[in-house]
Amino acid sequence: MSQRLADKVSVITGSTSGLGAATARRFAAEGARVVVSGRSAERGEKVVDEIRKGGGDAIFLACDLGDEASVKGLIERAVAHYGRIDNLIANAAATATMGGEKNAGILEMDNALLEQSISTNVRGLLWLLKHALPALVAAAKPAERKTSSIVAIGTSGTRNGTPRMPIYFSTKAPVEVMVRSLAAEFGGRGVRVNCVSAGLVETDSRCGR
Ligand SMILES: NC(=O)c1ccc[n+]([C@@H]2O[C@H](COP(=O)([O-])OP(=O)(O)OC[C@H]3O[C@@H](n4cnc5c(N)ncnc54)[C@H](OP(=O)(O)O)[C@@H]3O)[C@@H](O)[C@H]2O)c1
Repeated sequence: MSQRLADKVSVITGSTSGLGAATARRFAAEGARVVVSGRSAERGEKVVDEIRKGGGDAIFLACDLGDEASVKGLIERAVAHYGRIDNLIANAAATATMGGEKNAGILEMDNALLEQSISTNVRGLLWLLKHALPALVAAAKPAERKTSSIVAIGTSGTRNGTPRMPIYFSTKAPVEVMVRSLAAEFGGRGVRVNCVSAGLVETDSRCGR
């Protein structure tokens, strides 16, 4: 592997499964020091074990995006362990197939799932960006052309008019808005902020889109 991310400290939320776990494995293979994160310690430690067996550097730090203290703690513990944060991959989400049929049409909308999706995909993401940005600004040295970065994972489905997805799409669409706003505010301070608007990816998980 080309080591394009050699020594970069990369926090990847939602890396206990699916796209986040694949990103964690790839980042580690490219030389990054990876913080694997999510609520499930069992699945997170499994990803860390795989990375270490392959010669990579990773730790698991639990975080629930529904709890601001937990989000703040993730960033503080990542900085305490690795000394800084160079990259944040904001990937964790309450996904399209979470809740099964409850995550379907507007007429079947389930309020508990609605609250969980807003809490994770909107409020929790904003908390994550709020608490990570000071560390990312500190890691960047624009005068030396050294940048840090945020990549937030959105979904291309928000632009397609797919039926029966009101909860998921209306809580994922704000990702692009947040990214534009933060890129305008923090780009000049050396933090690149972008969104990967993913299409359908088959994973082991529950996320259909
Ligand atoms: N797969 C697709 O087709 C597709 C398409 C477009 C966009 N996306 C986006 O890609 C990202 C990953 O999706 P995926 O398909 O890989 O789904 P996934 O396997 O279900 O992964 C979701 C991740 O988010 C974490 N998570 C969920 N709620 C959380 C919370 N409250 N606090 C902290 N972590 C939480 C989960 O970890 P724990 O359970 O351990 O907390 C899990 O690691 C999502 O942002 C999704 O919207 C996926």
